[in-house]
Amino acid sequence: MLFNRKRLNLVDGERQAMRNACKFNASLLDLVRENLRPGLTTDEIDQLIASRTAEAGHKSASLGYCGQQSSPFPKSCCTSVNDVICHGVPGPYALKDGDIINVDLTTIVNGWHGDSSETFIVGTPSDLARRVVQCAHDALWAAIDTCRPNSRLSEIGEAIVRIAKRSGFTVVEEYVGHGVGRQYHQPPTVPHYPTAEARRQKLEPGICFTIEPMLNTGTKETLLSKRDGWTVRTQDGGLSAQFEHTVMVTETGVEVLTLSKTGPQRGHKF
Ligand code: MF3
Ligand code: CO
Ligand code: CO
Repeated sequence: MLFNRKRLNLVDGERQAMRNACKFNASLLDLVRENLRPGLTTDEIDQLIASRTAEAGHKSASLGYCGQQSSPFPKSCCTSVNDVICHGVPGPYALKDGDIINVDLTTIVNGWHGDSSETFIVGTPSDLARRVVQCAHDALWAAIDTCRPNSRLSEIGEAIVRIAKRSGFTVVEEYVGHGVGRQYHQPPTVPHYPTAEARRQKLEPGICFTIEPMLNTGTKETLLSKRDGWTVRTQDGGLSAQFEHTVMVTETGVEVLTLSKTGPQRGHKF
């Protein structure tokens, strides 16, 4: 049994509510995609997301979120450029040709959370940048493909590490996927590398969680910004790429709830 708290296994109405939240969240990544160009600032990305969310009458879960940090997150999405692994704070930075930028956002729709992220390529990337983005996307999908009733949670991390290693990239360990639903972050913890704990856990129909591997071109070690308390960079300045989907285990397999209309689908070539 994966959870003591049975209510983590969603029933029909709750599953539909999660689908709705995730679908809206994914549509915001399509909005970013339509507007992405060199010169766009990360603050402008945040404004696009904040206003579309408000128009729809929903709420960003990231705005004011505290987590383990000392100060609340000040924006409606995370924008993580080049060597930023995750939790980059939108600001005056203007995107340049060749940048890679992960936009990670979470929306609360009728009390349910949809969480997803995508790494966008601005203009023409270096070969290394393109390869790490490709590999992060391939790793996410290899992980998704392990999910089914009774599969082990550790199969996710095993798949991600296998895909990263064959391209010579590393997998960040400090930041992990998570259960998601009524809460932004709830059990289970979903490590992107195999752990003893994950080996003991089996997936069950009705559970929802994120998979969000961060792959680095150099060291997997991270550095938290002292300046803003949120931005996480690679210790060596190497590039980092990430993709995130919210998934739901069903009676027969797995449903990817945060697929967007125009975003990369399974097997996408960058
Ligand atoms: N969306 C991130 C995740 O995938 C969490 C960001 S927390 C924030 O779990 F406060 F930085 F937004
Ligand atoms: Co996220
Ligand atoms: Co997440």
